[in-house]
Amino acid sequence: MDIKKVLVTGGAGFIGSHTAVELLNTGFELVVIDNFSNSEPWIIKQIESITQKKISFYQADVTNQLSIQDIFNKEKPDVVIHFAAYKSVGESVTKPLMYFQNNIDSLMVILSCMSQSNCKKLVFSSSCTIYGNNHPNPLIEDYAFSDLPHAYGSSKQICETILQKTTIANQFNIISLRYFNPIGAHPSGLLGELPKGTPNNIMPYITQVAIGKLPFLTIFGNDYPTPDGTCIRDYIHISDLAEAHVFSCKRLLTSNIAPPYEVFNLGTGTGVSVLELINHFETENNVKIPYKIGLRRPGDAVCTYANPEKSKKNLKWEAKRSIKEMVKDGWRWQLFIK
Ligand code: WQD
Repeated sequence: MDIKKVLVTGGAGFIGSHTAVELLNTGFELVVIDNFSNSEPWIIKQIESITQKKISFYQADVTNQLSIQDIFNKEKPDVVIHFAAYKSVGESVTKPLMYFQNNIDSLMVILSCMSQSNCKKLVFSSSCTIYGNNHPNPLIEDYAFSDLPHAYGSSKQICETILQKTTIANQFNIISLRYFNPIGAHPSGLLGELPKGTPNNIMPYITQVAIGKLPFLTIFGNDYPTPDGTCIRDYIHISDLAEAHVFSCKRLLTSNIAPPYEVFNLGTGTGVSVLELINHFETENNVKIPYKIGLRRPGDAVCTYANPEKSKKNLKWEAKRSIKEMVKDGWRWQLFIK
């Protein structure tokens, strides 16, 4: 296969940067667009340092049609991976308009630029939050969307609907990837999650407690109907998640095997509770995590984990890395950034 060019929006973010590394290591040429609203410029250098390859980088806002069209006209990508979006569930409850406008407008700009540049292949960053809390586990791709109390998940549902309903008329080939809970960091310790301010998600919160930046973890409820009373999630290593994007690009570039629109879960198929995650972290890293039991966090699902069979069968991908590797790699990254 001749060298193909992938354009990644949000490529300096947690998932985008790890995907950029795997794409470069696989031999793709890479264009990255990021406005650094939720990432840092030095991450681009980290990606280039880890891979010893150059990126064609543009600092731009993906809702700005004119600047993005200029980039498409210049770069003429073969595939687009669209990560750039706001992603905090909690923030989306208080700022719904900001979330709908940014997350939907940015997708519309991408689809318009693809259409005008005759680029037909897209991988879209979706989320397991679209399932809501009412479906039985393990979650499968055919489940209907649930009504959600937050604009973040609703914006992902709306984007998936737009993709499904426009792909045939525009002769696109599109894959939506529904992420479960990505955690950990690149095993080099040179790339990882960079939450702005106090982390919302549990893993960066745990590593900041472990290094002493935060005094203790608050466990949001231990009275759930689960074996140890704490919520269960499908934690997946960020490098496994990144590799799934490479598999998706290959599937889209292998002519005529991908249908116009496909959806895949990206999870391990195994549920891990909050207390189990803490225990894995303490055991693997020989670090104590002080915690207190707090109130339940509104909107939290009791238990979510994926049925990964469709990804294994059609994407030819499955998660390989263990929870032990996730907590070790996450800790190594926290020690690097301090
Ligand atoms: C995990 C568990 C909390 C923090 C996130 C994203 C969502 C989607 C999936 C991408 C829950 C508990 C957390 C803390 C805690 N990703 N917790 N104390 O909520 O499953 O969803 O990943 O689309 O967008 O929000 O992840 O890490 O916030 O919580 O007890 O300080 O840890 O109650 O059970 P969540 P999370």
